[in-house]
Amino acid sequence: MSELLIHSMAEFGELIVQLLELAGAQSLVEIGAEHGGMTALLGDYCARRGGNLVAIDPAPAPGFGAWAATQPHIRHVAAPSLEVIGDLAGIDAWLIDGDHNYYTVFEELGLADAVCQRDERPLLAVLHDVGWPWSRRDLYYAPERIPAEFRQPYSYEVGVLLDSPDAQVNRGFRGMGQFACALHAGGPRNGVLTAIEDFCRIAEAGSRRLLYAHIPAVFGLGVLFDAEAPWANAVAEAVMPFHDNALLARLEANRLRNYLTVLDWQDGYAGRG
Ligand SMILES: C[S@@+](CC[C@H](N)C(=O)[O-])C[C@H]1O[C@@H](n2cnc3c(N)ncnc32)[C@H](O)[C@@H]1O
Repeated sequence: MSELLIHSMAEFGELIVQLLELAGAQSLVEIGAEHGGMTALLGDYCARRGGNLVAIDPAPAPGFGAWAATQPHIRHVAAPSLEVIGDLAGIDAWLIDGDHNYYTVFEELGLADAVCQRDERPLLAVLHDVGWPWSRRDLYYAPERIPAEFRQPYSYEVGVLLDSPDAQVNRGFRGMGQFACALHAGGPRNGVLTAIEDFCRIAEAGSRRLLYAHIPAVFGLGVLFDAEAPWANAVAEAVMPFHDNALLARLEANRLRNYLTVLDWQDGYAGRG
């Protein structure tokens, strides 16, 4: 992806580190490391606090595994998240930025929450890509890992446009072979935000009290946490100024529209209406 468009969770680095400090988090999990931009920030945090980080990514960028092996506070697990979360213990915070689809995120939250409940720790999950384009549309890094009944019709050849729920062949924001997009946005069991909402609905039906903050910038950041956690008020106060912030939302919409316009120029659509 072009540097024209900032896209890493690391853009939220100051806020995420503040949340980890407020929660006194020591044992961290990052799902989806890619180039390790956020991983490095979390590694620094762990070095300062004597903490540790498990970075789960089956296919990070070249060099990430070798780099991680040199970091005393980081353990890279090269496997899909759903295969390994259940083996973890004593986790204080989860950063979720792996496969951005309903099935994976819903299951990640369920497994992470089960680990926390078993270990009697409150849930703190920070999730990326809760905004456009993956809020209501699945992306698949490995469609074959998604059970057929949860998988939306998809293609590696399509991209997404701001004003249309239907993906289009070789146009718009797309994976260039790295990931596939669901052909249509919306409807049940589609997208990261839909997964979070369904997880919260089910948890709250079981009389859990969860809080969720939605930060509409850089593809969207969600902060989901136990309302009963001893640090819940402090975390809520820290995220409140960003939650559903109208100015951030306008800036995000504007930068996405500018970027999609650049893509249309590159693809030869500009001026065609
Ligand atoms: C958007 S990138 C992560 C970016 C990184 N968190 C950052 O902010 O700089 C998504 C990463 O998730 C990884 N991934 C895909 N499916 C995964 C899964 N099931 N479990 C863990 N990681 C996965 C991909 O290999 C890719 O490196």
